[in-house]
Amino acid sequence: MAKLRPRPGILEIEPYVGGRSAIEGAARVIKLSANESALGPSPKAIAALQAAAASSHRYPDGGAEDLRAAIGGRFQLDPARIVCGAGSDELIQLLMRAYAGPGDEVIYSAHGFLMYKLSALGVGAVPVAAPERALRADVDALLGCLTSRTRMLFLANPNNPTGSYLAAEELARLHAGLPEDVLLVIDAAYAEYARSNDYSAGIELVDRAENVVVTRTFSKLFGLAALRLGWLYGPDAVVDVLNRLRGPFNVGTPAQVAGVAALEDLDHQERSRAHNERWLPWLAGALDEARLTVHPSIANFVLIEFAGEGARSARAASAWLEQDGIIARPMAAYGLPHCLRLSVGLEAENHAVVASLGAFARQA
Ligand SMILES: Cc1ncc(COP(=O)(O)O)c(C=O)c1O
Repeated sequence: MAKLRPRPGILEIEPYVGGRSAIEGAARVIKLSANESALGPSPKAIAALQAAAASSHRYPDGGAEDLRAAIGGRFQLDPARIVCGAGSDELIQLLMRAYAGPGDEVIYSAHGFLMYKLSALGVGAVPVAAPERALRADVDALLGCLTSRTRMLFLANPNNPTGSYLAAEELARLHAGLPEDVLLVIDAAYAEYARSNDYSAGIELVDRAENVVVTRTFSKLFGLAALRLGWLYGPDAVVDVLNRLRGPFNVGTPAQVAGVAALEDLDHQERSRAHNERWLPWLAGALDEARLTVHPSIANFVLIEFAGEGARSARAASAWLEQDGIIARPMAAYGLPHCLRLSVGLEAENHAVVASLGAFARQA
């Protein structure tokens, strides 16, 4: 008898495991495992959510008109070229479904965001990991992976989990090396945190080419991860394709109204940015002083490398942090079993991390 079976590739997917939020037996934890906003959502977004609750029997605006207008206003973009999604994760998956299929190749940087590989497998495409240099994306290595079967190239900039980035010039060089029928997806989930002068989210590339899109999210600086809200800016043709493919009501009303309110609350955005600007270097500096290897980051997290085995390993450090109620993100799924990733937290949380890892380093 014929057996039910999923399409090729799907059973190769190791389901994505998000950052844990609880420790058995611990009443209070410091969750630093998911690159969430330390300061949480804008009070204005919370108020908008509450106000929307009573209309929960109504379908959302399928075109997310107000939200796209607000995004366009905030970032000086044409709302007609914006598509909203249930997190940028949904947009990554929609792009994959739209432009890659069985046998097609999808390039990403070896320690790039995990969802590129998983969603490529989900459509039966072949994920192709380009080697990196010192945990940084390498333009030549990425371009070196091109074949006649390449359909897409995904780059997180800044990248999760490494925190590293490609400067605007390098990004332009990457794009210049791609054939016109290969779509470059620039995933700028952490763009709002990036402060370096040579950083660009890549919007200007979208404006001058037909094969570039930029994805963004409300899950990080805007502190709305629970609502699942992301957006994409792209050429008309790509926007048209995604609007045909997406669910008619893929973004719920709570996400839409909270997104608009969060965009309007420039003070809260500035506070979140300033918080990160203060505590990211503090955290990196203090861990460095504790003789831990911290990779340079321009996002809202740090990647820490542990040289040792056994009692000095990343696994031992993770267990040590847990005893102090702190949840870090193990990195084995990213091929970095000797690393842990930690989000920038509130002031007291950052101090707790440094005290805990400092003690770990001294005993190890
Ligand atoms: C680089 C990168 N892209 C996309 C996402 C997904 O974000 P969202 O919550 O918008 O789906 C994340 C989440 O951690 C990320 O790190």
